[in-house]
Amino acid sequence: MALLLHASSAACARAAASPLPPPCRAPAAPSSAAIYWGRRRHRRRLAAAAAASDGASDGDAAARTGGVPDGGDGRGYHLPTRLLHPPSSAFEDPFRASGSPLYQTATFAQPSAVEMGPYDYTRSGNPTRSHFEHQMALLEGADRALAFTSGMAALAAVAKLAPSGGRIVAGDDLYGGTSRLLSRVAPAVCGVEVVFVDMSDLEAVAAAIRNDGGGGGGKNGENGDGGNRKKTDLVMIESPTNPRMQIADVRAVCALVRAHGAVSCVDNSFMSPLLQRPLELGADVSMISGTKYIGGHSDVTLGVLAVRGSGLADRLAFLQNAEGAGLAPFDCWLAARGLKTMALRVERAQANAALLARFLDAHPLPTRVNYAGLPGHPGAALHASQASGGGAVLSFETGSLAASRAVAEGSDLFKITVSFGGVESLVSLPCFMSHAAIPAAVRAARGLPDDLVRLAVGVEDAADLARDLHAAMALGLAARDAEGGVVGGGGVALSSAVDDAAAADRALARALAEADAMRDAGARVVELEAEVASLKEELAAVASAASSKPKAPAAR
Ligand SMILES: Cc1ncc(COP(=O)(O)O)c(C=O)c1O
Repeated sequence: MALLLHASSAACARAAASPLPPPCRAPAAPSSAAIYWGRRRHRRRLAAAAAASDGASDGDAAARTGGVPDGGDGRGYHLPTRLLHPPSSAFEDPFRASGSPLYQTATFAQPSAVEMGPYDYTRSGNPTRSHFEHQMALLEGADRALAFTSGMAALAAVAKLAPSGGRIVAGDDLYGGTSRLLSRVAPAVCGVEVVFVDMSDLEAVAAAIRNDGGGGGGKNGENGDGGNRKKTDLVMIESPTNPRMQIADVRAVCALVRAHGAVSCVDNSFMSPLLQRPLELGADVSMISGTKYIGGHSDVTLGVLAVRGSGLADRLAFLQNAEGAGLAPFDCWLAARGLKTMALRVERAQANAALLARFLDAHPLPTRVNYAGLPGHPGAALHASQASGGGAVLSFETGSLAASRAVAEGSDLFKITVSFGGVESLVSLPCFMSHAAIPAAVRAARGLPDDLVRLAVGVEDAADLARDLHAAMALGLAARDAEGGVVGGGGVALSSAVDDAAAADRALARALAEADAMRDAGARVVELEAEVASLKEELAAVASAASSKPKAPAAR
């Protein structure tokens, strides 16, 4: 029995001697002794030499990666490559495992009774968590990243940056759970005043942050600042917002926040660091519900805070440990595994979402389609200036709750489920699901209608999704017409219904043609790559023939 509990082997001793950094550290430089890293440095030198011989400078790295910063390691790899080949690691794995090692343990033995090892207790730190946090810090360009048990646990830690008696300014179109935290927990439990404001209205935001009474003064009847003049401690932003996809000028808002000496936090769950990196836009904290695109398979809940500045990171790490909100090792392992395929998943889901947004835009049922990637979206240009895609979530209104219900309940592939960011497509009516925690009157004042349908688009075949949605939308049209909400009575209704069906079919035909083109584009890339390879071979043969040809004697 004792042997079972104390299997102290030479292998354990070797592992214990392996140079692990202290827990919860910012991205640390890897040990110079490791062969692994030696080989990486060698490859890096090769890449640098190749760049130099191309006449490229270090500054060209971002150009080579299509404007995406290369994580500061000068290798010039695009983000999808860096997700698989990160420039550094939180600790050195002596066995060079392809998957990240899982330290499924609550405790670590200390070197002696009076010395601490790099890790002692998993609530305070664990190598698997360090690994995931390190990768997230690199991805977000953060000084340090911290993994929490859920997005809400991460947001709860951020909200505590405002002291009792302090003040938080937050967007008025927010995820329902965030809204609940800020309207029911922060004021009542933490004694913090919270003011909600339309984050897409920069003047109103400026007035709310200044707290000069010129904005955020209760447009929705929910702000209770009552004329007092507290300093703003924290500003919480979502862009695009959940679920109406409003766009905030993240750069401008963060600059305002900084000028007022407050902390800015952007909820980046909709975008993922692949499409938007808030710290580069000036935010102090980028928060992500990793339950979405990072995990990617709807099998783990987690949240991440990517933080600029070690002082701020230390304050948040203190809360993470003190409140026991750190992510468990196995969940960190799942999250780190999710990162490897995140680029593939997000790219495919986003392409599908853009196609479906165009389909819905051309369809007669929606009275409004909210998708930041549609040119007609009022914030499209601003969004394009701060993010590299519209993402994979969209919402639309039908003007009829019966119609919206029929769409949600009539789909086969879109399952009626809260959340987004998983590989499978989901549909929800936010007012009855993810945003039900917001009182109906507040929802109505914020312009969040009951008939709003949210689609979280997955990675299925685009044509299958379009066909499925077309069938569900036909049920929606029928429900709307039966209700008489939009179409008039008698013969007018009949001819309208026929026109609508024809318009819906045209929208589907276009979507199917786009889906075919998407598939063909993939095949065409493979063809082009083969053509390029054969042209290169021909070129090499011509060059070698030219160099082996005897030179004509020089003319005298
Ligand atoms: C935008 C947004 N932020 C935060 C959260 C909370 O994340 P979690 O569910 O991981 O606690 C959610 C959840 O849906 C969300 O949609």
